Amino acid sequence: MPTQRVSTTTLCAFFLLFSLIAPAQATSPTQPLTITDDTFTCIRDMTPVRGFFVDNLLGDLDATLAVAHSDSGGRYPPGSVVQLVPTEVMVKHPEGFSPATRDWEFFELQVDSSGSRIAKRGFVDVENKFGGNCFACHLKAEPQWDMICETGRGCDPIPLTAEMTAVLQKADPRCTDNEPLTAQDLQHLQALRQAIEALSAP
Ligand code: HEC
Repeated sequence: MPTQRVSTTTLCAFFLLFSLIAPAQATSPTQPLTITDDTFTCIRDMTPVRGFFVDNLLGDLDATLAVAHSDSGGRYPPGSVVQLVPTEVMVKHPEGFSPATRDWEFFELQVDSSGSRIAKRGFVDVENKFGGNCFACHLKAEPQWDMICETGRGCDPIPLTAEMTAVLQKADPRCTDNEPLTAQDLQHLQALRQAIEALSAP
């Protein structure tokens, strides 16, 4: 019975081919992200980092957290989701997707107890409710922070205190386990309302 022999050349060709294919399979972060209204749920289901929350749509939360917690900054990995308040989101696309915004996409959401609706999304031209361009403001963060502003990183400030953002996170209408707001929470919301009115005044 003839034995089937695999020549060394065939084996080499096979391994060469495999080594070329393997890295392509390992880099699933290059796949385009599918982002719909349903992508965004209760902000507190994400992972807290200082005052904001993060997640990773490609399952690599550890890589996102490593950058978020780094003292020297770094580049957020594809799939990263960052939120400070329930209605504004940044999502990191695969490298090269939008070089101008370092692959970040900006979202403005409408949220209620039934979930999220994407009101606006895009790269360089999304504006918040007050006419502020997300990209233009976040671009001012020192480069090592990858456009994440927090405080003291070079972005123009926004009129939100840490207490105000905490109440907005606590009251996210998409969450099913909201605690009742305290009198102090309501005071922070009132102060926020006044700050917004001052911003909207001509
Ligand atoms: C006037 C400048 C400005 C504009 C315009 C602006 N942001 Fe920000 N954003 C900030 C600053 C400053 C912070 C940090 C606030 C803090 O931590 O107290 C922030 C925080 C955030 C964060 C949390 C991560 C971080 O960078 O600290 C996200 C996500 C975010 N903004 C998304 C958006 C989106 C989306 C838009 C547009 C719809 C937008 N922002 C418009 C200045 C701005």
